[in-house]
Amino acid sequence: MKRYEDLAPSLRCIMTPGPVEVDPRVLRAMSFPVLGQFDPEFTDIMNETMEMLRALFKTGNKWAFPVDGTSRSGIEAVMVSLIAPGDRVLIPIFGRFGHLLHEIAERCGAEVYTIEKEWGSVFAPEEVISAIRSIKPDVVAIVHGETSTGRMQPLAEIGQVCREQDALLIVDAVATIGGVPVETDEWLLDAVIGGTQKCLSIPSGMAPVTYNERAEAKLLKRKQVERGLRTGRFEAGELPPVRSNYFDLGMLQDYWSPQRLNHHTEMTSMLYALREGLRLVLEEGLEARHARHALHEQALVAGLAAMGLTLYGDPDCKLTVVACVQIPEGVDGESVRTMLLDHFGIEIASSFGPLKGKIWRIGTMGFSCRENNVLRVLGALEATLLRHGHSLSPGLSVQAALDVYEQKGR
Ligand SMILES: Cc1ncc(COP(=O)(O)O)c(C=O)c1O
Repeated sequence: MKRYEDLAPSLRCIMTPGPVEVDPRVLRAMSFPVLGQFDPEFTDIMNETMEMLRALFKTGNKWAFPVDGTSRSGIEAVMVSLIAPGDRVLIPIFGRFGHLLHEIAERCGAEVYTIEKEWGSVFAPEEVISAIRSIKPDVVAIVHGETSTGRMQPLAEIGQVCREQDALLIVDAVATIGGVPVETDEWLLDAVIGGTQKCLSIPSGMAPVTYNERAEAKLLKRKQVERGLRTGRFEAGELPPVRSNYFDLGMLQDYWSPQRLNHHTEMTSMLYALREGLRLVLEEGLEARHARHALHEQALVAGLAAMGLTLYGDPDCKLTVVACVQIPEGVDGESVRTMLLDHFGIEIASSFGPLKGKIWRIGTMGFSCRENNVLRVLGALEATLLRHGHSLSPGLSVQAALDVYEQKGR
């Protein structure tokens, strides 16, 4: 019989835009005993998680809970539940994940309108606002932090216009939540999706979402109770039911409500992980956490510049937690990534579509976002580039990053 060895994954320094290193406290929480899903001890954990999610999303929304699945499961749940077939949906696209929103909206049977911006930049708020005014969509779906290009879309002014036009505003904050400010209530965002495997430093496998009463009103029009759970006469809502059972937010909210109307079997160990990850965020404090992400970005960027590397994209809308670096002429980007992994145990990312082979993406997210990791990636990248025959002035990069830390009194 074939012998399978003990699982022994390498300890990596993960400097990608996700997944990133998981805080040891989160890993420990995942090893705790499984509880039954209606055990009061477990439902207390569910309620505490909702409370902490409200704080993370900066919202007074009643609904804030995780969808079980990777981040796109949260996106898909929100979109398939809030977009009824035939709805007019506007998607501003400035990278891969805007295209993902487009694809999901089409699969929801929406009449989709897109506006596109060249990769590496974002929309001026007025451009989105004028599209909303002319298209008059039922729903606007937009990415906050576009990890494929390392850009961040300003959102603060868009929500008000959505209210005026009676459109729901859905935001993919998968990459930004827990790393840079996401002001759900202040920016008038109707539904927001976060990610676990990025700035929250929890493994991939859950997607926290929140939505307000405007969004809930639409869900209630699509209300469903699973046939086998009905106890009396059931009256369907005025809009067609959500086309997915797993992702029906109306049914999920019944499960997360005191009613605990059963839906799926909650992912116990992932919920422990989410709860511990949220506890870590709240212990650090959102503002301090955002400041930490900004500091390490600054050190990384200083080090990359001192190495003579050029950052990709419009600097005015750079996403704090991802640095996109142009691969120097004549350097094989994949060979550099392989050497970083094989010799230094460091992972950085490539990119997608039109940027494939043109840029590296270096993340400074969550637990991975710390001084020793930043210094390590800079030193290793410098050594690797020298090994690839690229000419640079050795030693300057790490010194430039150390200067930033020294100036900031770290
Ligand atoms: C901005 C953004 N949205 C959505 C996703 C999809 O997330 P997942 O791969 O967890 O489904 C990602 C993943 O990288 C992302 O960066």
